[in-house]
Order: sequence, then structure tokens, then C-alpha cells
Amino acid sequence: MKTFDHTGKVFAITGGSRGIGEAIVRRLAAEGAHVFATYHSQPERAEAIASEIRAAGGQATFLQVNVSDEEQVKGFIDTVVSQGGRIDGLVNNAGITKDGLIMRMSTQDWASVIDTNLSGVFYACKAAARPMMSQRSGRIVNIGSIVGLQGNAGQANYSSAKAGLVGLTKSLARELASRNVFVNCVAPGFVETDMTSKLTDEQKAAYFGNIPMKRGAQPDEIASVVSFFLAQESSYITGQILNVDGGLAM
Ligand SMILES: NC(=O)c1ccc[n+]([C@@H]2O[C@H](COP(=O)([O-])OP(=O)(O)OC[C@H]3O[C@@H](n4cnc5c(N)ncnc54)[C@H](O)[C@@H]3O)[C@@H](O)[C@H]2O)c1
Repeated sequence: MKTFDHTGKVFAITGGSRGIGEAIVRRLAAEGAHVFATYHSQPERAEAIASEIRAAGGQATFLQVNVSDEEQVKGFIDTVVSQGGRIDGLVNNAGITKDGLIMRMSTQDWASVIDTNLSGVFYACKAAARPMMSQRSGRIVNIGSIVGLQGNAGQANYSSAKAGLVGLTKSLARELASRNVFVNCVAPGFVETDMTSKLTDEQKAAYFGNIPMKRGAQPDEIASVVSFFLAQESSYITGQILNVDGGLAM
């Protein structure tokens, strides 16, 4: 469903080959943008999504990037600017979980989640900030999580990284607003993707029991909010964390 008009805009999205990122890529391309997205390990899936978008008259380009590698992330943003001519928006969506209670969480599992979910966002924001400041316009949307606000047993690494995104979002919002670059964070609750498909039906039922809407989100229910933060319609909003969680955290 088309909501906002992004005709002619150039957007960069990390982790666009499945789940929430795929929904963001499909939506923004349908809304008229030239979408540059990263994939990590599924080239066939990325190519299939790009082909479908092109067949429908849209523009999508996928590049292989590991967001925990600063050089690769910088190379991705440089490619977006050189091929797209500009960068109107950056969506930091790529993320992983490596859950475990703290007594059993290895330093490696701590570090890899921080590297991917927090440092990866820092690398992309740093690379995109310069062209956006030069253009005197740009939008950055970070995909956080309500566990970054509330914490979650078994997710010390993940919730710390997502809490870090809150500080990163607000600091960059303050640094960049005078250049017309706005930075916001979308914090989903439970979304039906590969990330949550590992949970048993009992675990899901227990989780849904605490959600006022009694269900998880579909990925496009996150993508539509991301699209809003990239659109002219959100022109007086920066530094905000918007929970998209069926009422779970309030
Ligand atoms: N699914 C949920 O319930 C939920 C809830 C809150 C927040 N989120 C967040 O939403 C975002 C997307 O999650 P999802 O549910 O679609 O998960 P997913 O596992 O389906 O997709 C994650 C994406 O990140 C990419 N990725 C992982 N590691 C990467 C790396 N090192 N370099 C580049 N790309 C990498 C994957 O290739 C994939 O495209 C994540 O940041 C996640 O933390 C998800």
C-alpha cells in the first residue's frame, strides 16, 4: 500500500533482504524512491526482491555489506551517493540476537551483538552525515526495540545495544538539526520475522498475553512508520523514539 510520496528520493537501508528490512525496501520502492539496500548472506533472496521491484517499475539495488565492518559500511554509503547522486535517507535496520542469561553469555556473544547492532549504526551514521550535511537535508531512522527501554532477561547484549541507539539517536538529532538532518528511532515490540520465529508457540502466547493488542506486528506495520519518518509529513520531528508495539510499553 502506498502512503507517502518518495518520488525521486534516494534511500539506503541496511539488512534489506528479509523481515522488517525487506518490508521497508518494498514499501519505499513502491512509494517512488530509488532504494539501495544491503544483504549479508542471501544473494539469491536479495536479487529476487530487486527483480520483483524492477518488474513493477521501481528502482532497487542490493549490495553485500557486513555492517560490523566500518570500511564496508563507508563503501556502501559512498556507492549510494555516487550511483544515486545524493542520499535523502538512511535506515539502520540490520541487527542480530545472541541471547543468553548473563552467567552463560560469552564475551564474544556480547561483542558481536554490540558490533552489529550499535557500532554498525555508528559507522553508517558517520558516513551518511557528511553528504547529508552538505545537501542541507537528510533523514536517519534507527530501528531500536522496546527492550532498549525496558530491558529483557536473557538479552543483556541486545538490550544494551538498543539502549545505546537511544543515546545515539538523540545525540545526532542535536548535532545535525541545524543542517536540516533529522534523526529518529522506531522501537518495535514483537514483529513476525525470522528473528522471532525461533520462539515456541507457548513463548509467543505468553508474550502476546502482555500486549494490549494481543498480537505481534507484521513487518509492514513497522515499514509504514519508517516511511513517515523519511517523509515531508514528519518535517518537525527529531530525536524521538516511537514505540510500535501494540501498546506493550507505555
Ligand atoms: N522481529 C522483532 O520482533 C523485532 C523487534 C524489535 C526490533 N527488531 C529489530 O528490527 C531489525 C530487523 O529485524 P528482523 O526481525 O527483520 O530480523 P531478521 O533476522 O529477519 O533480519 C535481520 C537483517 O539484518 C541483516 N544482518 C544481520 N547481521 C548483519 C551484518 N553483520 N551485516 C549486515 N546485515 C546484517 C540480516 O541479513 C537480515 O537482513 C533488527 O535491528 C532487530 O533488532 C526486531
